[in-house]
Amino acid sequence: MNVLVTGAAGYIGCHACIALIDAGHGIVALDNYSNSSPLSLQRVMQITGCDFPIVEASVNDRDVLDELFSNHAIDAVMHFAGFKAVGESCLEPLTYYRNNVTGSVTLLEAMKAAGIKDFIFSSSATVYGDPASTPITENFPLQATNPYGRSKLMIEEILQDLESADNIAENPFWRVAILRYFNPVGAHSSGLVGEDPKGIPNNLLPYITQVAVGKLAKLSVFGGDYPTPDGTGVRDYLHVMDLAEGHVRALEALTRPDAPYGCQTWNLGTGNGVSVLEMIRAFESVAQCRIPYEIVARRPGDVAECWSDASKAERELGWKARRSLNEMMADSWRWQRNNPDGYPDLES
Ligand code: WQD
Repeated sequence: MNVLVTGAAGYIGCHACIALIDAGHGIVALDNYSNSSPLSLQRVMQITGCDFPIVEASVNDRDVLDELFSNHAIDAVMHFAGFKAVGESCLEPLTYYRNNVTGSVTLLEAMKAAGIKDFIFSSSATVYGDPASTPITENFPLQATNPYGRSKLMIEEILQDLESADNIAENPFWRVAILRYFNPVGAHSSGLVGEDPKGIPNNLLPYITQVAVGKLAKLSVFGGDYPTPDGTGVRDYLHVMDLAEGHVRALEALTRPDAPYGCQTWNLGTGNGVSVLEMIRAFESVAQCRIPYEIVARRPGDVAECWSDASKAERELGWKARRSLNEMMADSWRWQRNNPDGYPDLES
């Protein structure tokens, strides 16, 4: 199949491009590089040995989307483009709603005009808010607690509305996979692509790897008094290549001749919860180094535990995260060691 990948130059997007090409699919990459580097796509070509069209544009640019759909025979769209920092979304909600929600609406309108009906949406476990229990299944209550999470939830609801409006019996239209990610970490084993946060990392593992490489002095562990085995936050970390391969499985499930119309939702996680202290120990053991840290106050908005029941994806997509915590650490460390400052600035 030929797949439009929006946000293709981003952390998850570029790994999805690799997994799609490895699975024999074609891609057209779209990105405006507002939160990514064009170098990541060059490295995808280096890793896969494949060339592919790249369109530099925002998903909010309807004319570019119309032209793209008329120039390329696109069978499905994988939509990663979006801002994803919880803290930043609280400071700039309108930016998040314009980029994430309006951008998705513009993309869906262009798809409908072009008669493209297969859509895979990059959602997030953040739509579960503070779950009453763990593990989390897809039918848990949804309760976003910040503009970023609300933008994801709004888009999920838009997709449900499309199903009820457009999927009429005589001429059904949309086939949609909503994929709720838990905590993606790691990098492709080549060490050529990886997570490249701008400024000080918000997320745990890129912060740890920047301490290990000497860019940051010490890790602050946000809270040591949670009701968890060691008092620190527990999350479901999954290897970004496992996540990417889950998207390929969802695409193939969505486009089978007997595939149902409408929206289907799957958690993409490992089903295992790992604490912050366990992450530090695992990284130290793989990288053979010490990570200095200090336990400080909880970060506002954090939940104690968030980890998945990923059995629905295993049952229905034939997908299960298979890479170990040690592989996540080793691949993260290789990327950071090879690229201490992330992708080089193209202007330099
Ligand atoms: C993980 C654990 C922190 C940094 C966020 C978004 C979510 C998704 C993934 C987009 C927590 C602790 C972290 C640090 C720490 N993003 N921590 N010191 O918050 O689970 O999820 O990223 O889809 O939507 O909410 O990930 O990596 O920020 O935190 O102690 O410097 O590490 O308290 O327990 P989180 P995270």
